[in-house]
Amino acid sequence: ATIQWYPGHMNKAKNQLEDNLDLIDVLIEVLDARLPVSSRNPMIGQLTKKKPHIIVLNKADLADPIQTKKWTRYYQDEGNFVISMDAQHTTNMTSLFKIIKLAGKEKTDKLIAKGASNPMIRVAIAGIPNCGKSTIINRMVGRNAAIVGDKPGVTRGQSWLKTKTNVQILDTPGILWPKFSDQEVGYKLAACGAIKADIFHPDDVALFVIEFLKQNYRDDLVKFARISSEEMDSMSNPDLLLAMTNKYGMRDDYDKFSLFMLQRLRKGKLGRITFDLR
Ligand code: G4P
Repeated sequence: ATIQWYPGHMNKAKNQLEDNLDLIDVLIEVLDARLPVSSRNPMIGQLTKKKPHIIVLNKADLADPIQTKKWTRYYQDEGNFVISMDAQHTTNMTSLFKIIKLAGKEKTDKLIAKGASNPMIRVAIAGIPNCGKSTIINRMVGRNAAIVGDKPGVTRGQSWLKTKTNVQILDTPGILWPKFSDQEVGYKLAACGAIKADIFHPDDVALFVIEFLKQNYRDDLVKFARISSEEMDSMSNPDLLLAMTNKYGMRDDYDKFSLFMLQRLRKGKLGRITFDLR
């Protein structure tokens, strides 16, 4: 579910988001909790000024809980509604509905003052590919709503998905492009599976991950590598990659091992790791 982004795609996606903003009361921006900065659309701040805005730090089960707390506070301090969640394993969306009601309160209060009894709050979900938009929508709807359109800028006939509450969801999630500001951001996105890994060589991504873990999550790396911390210090990263490849019985096929390691990382098997550190 990854997309090659071109300027044309970005423009279409931007226009689609702007059109959708006219239809909704609250925008739900889904970020990958492992990448609270890198998974953020670079234009989202400007685009959503007019509407109440909720940031969901999703895949919190895979992220470093201390970092998630810090990023939650950070985005709250910026004036956003923020919630972290694990949409894959949580079926109960009560907390999300609560925060949507809070974000939509200004609108509903006005309508209630005019005599409406249970005014609708209309939301759209937006975020980069693979951050969990469809999963969240399915959880909110409470069944497997068919969601199509994993292409940027594809506007279909708009329709609304109903939930058990007075919240309705625009059926097409807004697919946004991530930051592409530098190589490091690219590696982070690739490591988490947010952009196609084949943009990079897997061993380059693996080497990036090894260096990042060495610096920031050393214990997790030592555990996964099956190599002691002291031994690690005496090795270059490519030597370490090769040594790990050996340890895992893949001889010198470090490409194969690199892919394996990235798969394990994405499943959280190396530990709970956040790549954008606060
Ligand atoms: P999208 O619409 O934004 O493109 O994302 P989607 O919901 O399709 O989710 C992408 C992948 O991320 C899915 O896995 C989904 O199960 C997983 N996912 C979504 N939310 C969470 C979460 O909070 N925690 C975890 N750990 N995973 C989450 P997949 O790649 O389609 O299948 P698989 O990886 O389960 O095999």
